[in-house]
Amino acid sequence: MEITIIGLGYVGLVNAVYLASLGHEIFGYDIDKNKISLLRQGVATLEEPNLQSLLTESLPNLRFSTNHKDAIRHASHIFICVDTPQDKDGSVDMKNFYAVLDNIIEDSISDQCIVIRSTVPVGTNKIVKQYLESKSSNHFDVISFPEFLSQGKAISNMIQPDRLILGVNDQKGVALAKEIAQLYLIKKAPVMITSSENAEMIKYASNCFLAMKISYINNIAQLCEKVGADVDKVAKGMSYDPRIGESFLKAGIGYGGSCFPKDTNGLYWIANDNSVSMEIVKSTIDINKSQVEFFLNKIYRRFKSLAGLNVAVLGVAFKGGTEDVRNSQAIPIVKAILEKNANITIYDPLAMDNFQKLFTRHTRIKYVDYPYDALKNADVVLILNDSEEFVNLKPLDFITYMRKPVIFDGRNLYKVESMEGTEYHSIGRPSRVDKVKTRKSL
Ligand code: UDX
Repeated sequence: MEITIIGLGYVGLVNAVYLASLGHEIFGYDIDKNKISLLRQGVATLEEPNLQSLLTESLPNLRFSTNHKDAIRHASHIFICVDTPQDKDGSVDMKNFYAVLDNIIEDSISDQCIVIRSTVPVGTNKIVKQYLESKSSNHFDVISFPEFLSQGKAISNMIQPDRLILGVNDQKGVALAKEIAQLYLIKKAPVMITSSENAEMIKYASNCFLAMKISYINNIAQLCEKVGADVDKVAKGMSYDPRIGESFLKAGIGYGGSCFPKDTNGLYWIANDNSVSMEIVKSTIDINKSQVEFFLNKIYRRFKSLAGLNVAVLGVAFKGGTEDVRNSQAIPIVKAILEKNANITIYDPLAMDNFQKLFTRHTRIKYVDYPYDALKNADVVLILNDSEEFVNLKPLDFITYMRKPVIFDGRNLYKVESMEGTEYHSIGRPSRVDKVKTRKSL
């Protein structure tokens, strides 16, 4: 198999490096010259556990280029991994995807197998085949092969996938899908070869179901606060039912990232386009937005004014363990706090450079290199993601460094019982207000 991977973002780069590490020769293409130059030097352009070491050791099997002719001509299999972002109206923006198809039409010199790893609207597989074959004299087999990797666990997801879903439309497609699945079956995993519509739908239905679980528990969290219950205990109790399970029931300030926000909107749009009412997906989206307001209102109720206060922000990536700030819940929260004229000091172990690019003209935001520097002399701290570093903080860290240890934990990282000596507010759990003194600046 001569594999070319088009689009070296999360999905593409992780696939390229992983397949190369297994001994396959991989050609990686991206339009971003800077990215290609770094990759050629063996520098991973993403923060992902084990990605750098795997790239270093697999470099002899990898070629990187911005020349689509070279990338497409010699490939027997072209994996399309470009992003399909959300358009203004919530629909899926397929511009990048179609640009790749146009390159294939221009450069293809023989029959090829197109493997769609990007998340695309249901029905895309068949449209792709028609589009390519109406404009090229070559024959194209098109396989839908949705990617389910999770950031921060991408390499381990590759090594041990939960499942491989491949969508095809004929018997030849079944044979090709089996060959492709074989590439990823280093460990045993369920393989489902099904219709292309099913495969495309499975991706949306899975992501939206997980997002729905998060919004459900967040909605329950809002109610827990009113009735004096503790959402973490409620989720724990629910999880003993194996039909429910414990995953994706962590209450917080809501989901962000490059997948859930885009895919919930995408599915809602696809449903509307097909005249199917999907209010459950709409509610998932609405609850997720309301979770930010819910968190902010807690802060506003606590402080008459935030003007001039020192606000420490821990965590601006959409979750811990990544440098990705796309659709991070930290963005609207920091914006809102800035509008209240607070002074903000931000720390995130990985994402500060990316976050800084979004807030270039703000003089009241400071970025620091250690969590303690953010906490130093803060009047309040907002914890916005579940980075390991924050999970390991102890009440004494807040007490020692802050002017007053007032904590708003948007990810329920600590047990309320353990936060002695602090004023501790979280999501869907009773607040703890110990007697704390304001002390002089350090
Ligand atoms: C997700 C899916 O998990 C993955 O299968 C799919 O391929 C892409 O989208 P990812 O975006 O990397 O992966 O992040 P994930 O770990 O799923 O978290 C998404 C968001 O939900 C984060 O903001 C996280 O903080 C939040 N979340 C997750 C919760 O608020 N509560 C939870 O219980 C789980």
